[in-house]
Amino acid sequence: MIGIADTRLTEAEIDAAVDVLRSGMLRQGPQVASFEQDFAAFVGARHAVASINGTTALHIAFACFLKPGDEVLVPSFTFIATATMVIAAGGVPVMCDVDPETWLIDLDDAAAKTTDRTRAIVPVHLFGNVCDIDAVKAFADRHDLQIVWDAAQAHGATFDGRDVGSFGDYVTYSFYPTKNMFVGEGGMTCTDQEDSDAQMRLLREHGMPSRYRHTMLGYNYRMTDVAAAIGRAQLKRLPDMLARRRRNGERLLAGLHGLPGLTLPTVTPRAHHAWHQFCVLVDKEGFGLDRDELAAFLRENEVGSAVHYPMGLHQQPVFVEMYGEHHLPVTEHLADTILALPVHHGLSDGDIDQVVEVIREVAAD
Ligand SMILES: Cc1ncc(COP(=O)(O)O)c(C=O)c1O
Repeated sequence: MIGIADTRLTEAEIDAAVDVLRSGMLRQGPQVASFEQDFAAFVGARHAVASINGTTALHIAFACFLKPGDEVLVPSFTFIATATMVIAAGGVPVMCDVDPETWLIDLDDAAAKTTDRTRAIVPVHLFGNVCDIDAVKAFADRHDLQIVWDAAQAHGATFDGRDVGSFGDYVTYSFYPTKNMFVGEGGMTCTDQEDSDAQMRLLREHGMPSRYRHTMLGYNYRMTDVAAAIGRAQLKRLPDMLARRRRNGERLLAGLHGLPGLTLPTVTPRAHHAWHQFCVLVDKEGFGLDRDELAAFLRENEVGSAVHYPMGLHQQPVFVEMYGEHHLPVTEHLADTILALPVHHGLSDGDIDQVVEVIREVAAD
């Protein structure tokens, strides 16, 4: 079976974790501090604050500046944490449609939904493709908004040759096992602002600058040294993992080019895609099968696939109940037709060729 993710650790990563286990230093300690430094250096950020997962990485970013009732522009086509953490920090997510080409936040729709209560925008570098950073920054300047870039799926993605982690105000990452880089559960928030760095460290640990002295309300979002040790070891192979994903992504693009009814992913101009996911849109009329039928055919032929995401956030029952019914046509079309194909770092050229062959076979019928 050609799976959709490879979540195995290397011997070096396992050894790094075991060394920490042997040391008895299980809680947040020197490994976390070093991982923060190593990660910040890798992405070119001034500061990096580790936390327990990508969800908390978002929460501590929003909690730095949101006031009750502040509105935040969120793409509807993303994982739910992007929006729920706005609410956790007291804000209101305003779901925007996405661009039909890039599947990333549509700034025209965002502009139409901007009010005098809008305080921030959360561009998500979905699937490892990169939002047009210049356009988002110009938009945020125009409307005086903070930017929280959700890079949970975009470790190593670049814009104009610069890592997306280096663009401030806040850039958040996840190290969940299926991500481009993984430690089990883990997250990181990068920022170029010194005061935010200090505040996020307090939020992460019960608002406690010194032992049992609490100056603000906070949480326990500490990363363990075991996870951080895995992260430090894995950072060393991240460039190779990314190179493999890119090779696989480009091979899929070339191999699947020109098939009727199959829309391939685009890469934002000036960006280097990180290929967290390689998603296609399946149009039954042109392709002959719909998305679910193609997924079933792939499964029969030992190829995994997945649906990211089967509905937009605005369609999620919880948000329909909270905010009522809305329609965002591009997001809804994606939710109905999108399918993720295997692209991960554990696949060889031969594996990718097999994926292409199976799809070409059924498309030809
Ligand atoms: C876009 C996006 N944001 C946030 C998260 C949350 O990360 P975590 O699962 O580590 O909490 C994810 C994880 O799937 C994600 O894909």
